[in-house]
Amino acid sequence: MTDRLPVHLDVDTGVDDACALLLASLHPALDLRSVTCVGGNAPVADVTRNTLTVLEAAGRHDVPVGVGAARPLLEQPIDARHVHGQDGMADLGMPAPRLSPDPRHAVDLLRDSVDSAAAQGSPITLVPLAPMTNIALYARMYPASFARVGRIVFMGGGAHVSNATAAAEFNIFHDPEAAALVLDACAEHDVDVTMYGLDVFSEPRVTVDHLAALRAAATPASTLAAELMSFYHKRFGVDDATIGDAGAVAYLVDPEAIGTRRLPVRVELAGTWTRGRTIVDLRDWAGDMNHDPHGVAAATVDVALTIDGPRVADLWVRTITEAAQ
Ligand code: RIB
Ligand code: CA
Repeated sequence: MTDRLPVHLDVDTGVDDACALLLASLHPALDLRSVTCVGGNAPVADVTRNTLTVLEAAGRHDVPVGVGAARPLLEQPIDARHVHGQDGMADLGMPAPRLSPDPRHAVDLLRDSVDSAAAQGSPITLVPLAPMTNIALYARMYPASFARVGRIVFMGGGAHVSNATAAAEFNIFHDPEAAALVLDACAEHDVDVTMYGLDVFSEPRVTVDHLAALRAAATPASTLAAELMSFYHKRFGVDDATIGDAGAVAYLVDPEAIGTRRLPVRVELAGTWTRGRTIVDLRDWAGDMNHDPHGVAAATVDVALTIDGPRVADLWVRTITEAAQ
């Protein structure tokens, strides 16, 4: 398929980042060019090992993986191993990957990937699924390259929902300055940006029937997918579990499954109780701006507010099981 969409994922693998990597690796409409790792769910060394493990299972030995920031721009790192397991990816006890990371720093790999796609006349879609530290560093180190990004579709934030605190979502809360800087750079360089946030994040859910289909496919990728979701079923005591980050990748191949609104968005940096909140401006009237000293946020974002969860979950399972054939 010649008109595959070039994509780059920035990850903190992570059970659901692993689900996203499997979809990006195996869907025929996507051309996974490169992946970069950042500290988040787990320390960056674990994230890198997990990412290489997933790409090996997907048979994607061709995809370069860059090691990026170990911690946020200002904050200390806070991992989420209580959610993702001690090793950051379901504690499956898999053998160490034979693949090695690319010698370039993540930011340099990202620059090279963006520039080569742009030179080929097919701008890359950048998919941050983690704290946006690498992306912020990239925007400041290589602004001309950042301007060549086709689109950013990031998992993070929420208009109405939070998880890390009563106000903020984990990826944004982990590095609020990075998120604010990336939105600022999107506005400055006129890069389209979509926010796949917590308002839709939990809806695509993998059921026990899905697990049976994945296990029946019996490939390294489908078996890994089943193990990852089975871990979540047990961890949360449920018989269906979200594919999380993978939904942001699904948006690239089935945008009709997700409803978005184009809205101003900014990130709270100073709030005592609200630091890291994505302030999504849902006002649907011109409003009396005389009362608003802040004015409208500079970044206009396509914010995902609705989703056909079963359709997206089926897409994820079907892609992985059909890749077996
Ligand atoms: O809040 C959910 C996000 O935090 C996901 O990207 C998950 O992988 C964790 O990084
Ligand atoms: Ca993630």
